[in-house]
Amino acid sequence: MITKIRGTEDILPNDCGLWRYVEETARELCRVFGYGEIRTPVFENTELFNRGVGDTTDVVQKEMYTFLDKGGRSMTLKPEGTATLVRSYIENSLYANPQPTKLYYIIPCFRYEKPEAGRLREFHQFGIECFGAETAKTDAEIIALAMTFLDRLGIKNLKLNINNIGCPKCRAEYNKKLVEYFSRFKDRLCTTCLGRLEKNPMRIIDCKSEVCSGIAENAPRMLDYLCEDCSKHFEETKLNLDNLSIDYTINPNIVRGLDYYTKTVFEIIADIDGSSLTVCGGGRYNGLVEQLGGKPTEGIGFAAGLERLIMIMKSQGIMPVALENAPEIFIGTIGKDAEQFAQRLVYDLRINGIYVENDLLLRSVKAQMKYANKINAKYSMILGDDEVKENTASLKNMESGEEVQIELSAEKIIESLKK
Ligand code: HAM
Repeated sequence: MITKIRGTEDILPNDCGLWRYVEETARELCRVFGYGEIRTPVFENTELFNRGVGDTTDVVQKEMYTFLDKGGRSMTLKPEGTATLVRSYIENSLYANPQPTKLYYIIPCFRYEKPEAGRLREFHQFGIECFGAETAKTDAEIIALAMTFLDRLGIKNLKLNINNIGCPKCRAEYNKKLVEYFSRFKDRLCTTCLGRLEKNPMRIIDCKSEVCSGIAENAPRMLDYLCEDCSKHFEETKLNLDNLSIDYTINPNIVRGLDYYTKTVFEIIADIDGSSLTVCGGGRYNGLVEQLGGKPTEGIGFAAGLERLIMIMKSQGIMPVALENAPEIFIGTIGKDAEQFAQRLVYDLRINGIYVENDLLLRSVKAQMKYANKINAKYSMILGDDEVKENTASLKNMESGEEVQIELSAEKIIESLKK
């Protein structure tokens, strides 16, 4: 038997309702916050992520699904959405629209990570990106949307961590301090981090190896080296969050795993069975549009992992009632003529928006009614030759057992259901 690929998941019909609920909650919030949907290809030129996400990140160095197409071009399945959105923003001249440009997406992402609970090789993100707005008010709007989204889903015990990781100007000074610090531990750093020491020392702070992260604990902190502009932005972001009554913790250790961030970064952590899981991460990336060939344009956004959200909702017992989809009516039949008649009636009801079920397996009437019970049909009727001839049948309420005679037309049945 051929099985699914390690780190991928089938989302079965029972769970799809929960998925849709999460997606619809995201869409509705984006509507009121003024974010429009964008859909982009599942794969891109590898170069986009090398340059956009950064070639010293784990994502680019170790986790990308990269392949040569039949024309020998290097392609990569999207490991995240931001670089793609920046490409699309530039390529489609979205900057020509009234600014800022506010976009959202729900996408599959692919990362070759070690699969474990909440860590998959194919996963899904709901993300938003806002281009062309520099103010701290924008940072607060983005964070507010993320927090409201998780709150709407009913998720409890969330923690918002924020930090500011500076801009290229202040980071240059900070990087020198990091190189000084980490150079003292050259003999203990992993080989990947030894490479990072030269190219991008801040990446070492995000290393997943226990030794490196232990060393990083006492490393100098970016917050102590912010330039005046970044410092002011951080203060204003906090004031704006206070104004919206959003609680946060300043966590100077958050550097994020992708290279494009500048200034504000944040992560939202949820509690699952005593351990913590990052459900949402984001931040500002003021240099990325330019770096990918556009005009200098500020950017900020976040992405939340849908599998993780659903895992947490299940573990917290969150099950929205609106998810159940039981048929209004089950129409059972005896004999070929009744079956043909019922087929038409079922179709007429369905095209009028009523969920009706019927038998597709040529079962006995007894087996059909057993099935109607199992799928929780609210009403049932059985059509045989007599019912078809007289054009009436009895409509039975499956819960109370109450029955009413009814004319066999979609219109009359719908009228009766409304009563
Ligand atoms: P990220 O932190 O790499 O950020 O991913 C965002 C979220 O995706 C994580 O918080 C997590 O919930 C989910 N996630 C990441 N990797 C996996 C995985 N292997 N399995 C399951 N879920 C996962 C970004 O991707 C940025 N593009 C976010 C952003 C948007 N920043 C600015 N704009």
